[in-house]
Amino acid sequence: MELESLVSVAKSKNAPRTSDADTLPYGGGVDRGTNTPPAALSRLPVLRSLIEAKGCGLLGHSARVSGIACAVGAKIGLPRTELELLATAAEVHDIGKLGVPDRILLKSGRLTDAEYAVIQQHPEVGRDLLRMAGSRGNLLDVVLCHHERWDGEGYPFRRRTTESPLAARILSLADTVDAMASDRPYRASQPMERIFGELERCSGTQFDPNLVDVFLTLARGSRSHDWVDRIAAQGAGQLAA
Ligand SMILES: [Fe+2]
Repeated sequence: MELESLVSVAKSKNAPRTSDADTLPYGGGVDRGTNTPPAALSRLPVLRSLIEAKGCGLLGHSARVSGIACAVGAKIGLPRTELELLATAAEVHDIGKLGVPDRILLKSGRLTDAEYAVIQQHPEVGRDLLRMAGSRGNLLDVVLCHHERWDGEGYPFRRRTTESPLAARILSLADTVDAMASDRPYRASQPMERIFGELERCSGTQFDPNLVDVFLTLARGSRSHDWVDRIAAQGAGQLAA
């Protein structure tokens, strides 16, 4: 199926919904962290490249988010299967943005309410795209929940506290850190101390407060100008070990 058609189907009301079958491991040959068959996992780098090719400051974003998330995950003692789930989810978390028109995705000015509503569809579109590409279970749920918030004010389902998977809460934090540390069409990158202050301000509202504490402990030990890259490399190293 052509990519445009795939996105169109994923955005339509005819897209298959999440079912109990999606949460069950496959009987034979499945990645234990993501519940996804290896053949389907092998397609994910292609999907990641497609979203990075759309621009909007995303180049390298997925890899850095993966590294940051794994660094946090390793710090709290997650097993390797969970780190692999984190890394895979981070690589493709914004794949649903393939369904967002460039005039909205690349807009430098303030989004209208209608435009923001389109952006807010991307976790569900991403979940549906990944399912059509053969992914199952945990990976779909983490991608679906990466914009939920600790206080229940996120989207798409306003899940609160631990109603979202731990991996999705880690991904949310890592995604925001890298977004604030990167240049975007609508603003320049933020300095480290401002990012730390924002995380403290949003601890217990946007973010899981325990994860904020873990991240700040990690980050405050690395005060060089490339602190984000250093943390990301540290997380990537956990997977390579
Ligand atoms: Fe996103």
